Amino acid sequence: MPEPLDAPVAEPNVSTPEKRRKYLVTIAGCTDCHTPQDAHGQLLAGMDFAGGFILDVPWGRVASASLPPDPSGISYYDQAMFTEAIRTGLVGARKLNPIMPWHTYGGMTDEDIGAMFVYLKTLKPVRHHVDNTEPPTFCKVCRQTHGGGNQN
Ligand code: HEC
Repeated sequence: MPEPLDAPVAEPNVSTPEKRRKYLVTIAGCTDCHTPQDAHGQLLAGMDFAGGFILDVPWGRVASASLPPDPSGISYYDQAMFTEAIRTGLVGARKLNPIMPWHTYGGMTDEDIGAMFVYLKTLKPVRHHVDNTEPPTFCKVCRQTHGGGNQN
């Protein structure tokens, strides 16, 4: 549980563009949903931001997308596509499931969204195909059942 504050909280270290990018992605909580976990809630090693985390929502079951710069993920995105997805939940004609909190991130500045995009480009590529438009199948990489899992 959070403890009451008894001292001033240190300013975040955003002294370099790299630190600022990491800070933005951290406070936005992207890994909370985009890094897959094992049955005990431990993050899977080597799978940072690689998707496949299952969210059961009242309107269905959806897996988070893979974000590292790999052809199985969103390496085809440019910055304008990323900004549109984060702001409007639209990837071209495809509407993202609203559990992906684009309505919360929509007010971020172009600069901050651009900084998150650059950060994701610096991640280690991970091959992990996750596609909610395909039928859910077992994935031996993240050991979950998600769209396109049998292609991993
Ligand atoms: C509450 C969970 C959650 C959080 C937090 C979250 N996402 Fe997502 N995200 C998802 C889910 C689930 C999908 C898949 C939606 C779909 O396929 O309809 C998704 C999809 C995406 C996509 C679309 C990929 C594609 O299919 O083309 C991008 C880009 C993305 N997230 C980026 C981010 C970034 C960057 C952050 C942090 C700023 C973030 N997400 C935070 C759950 C989350």
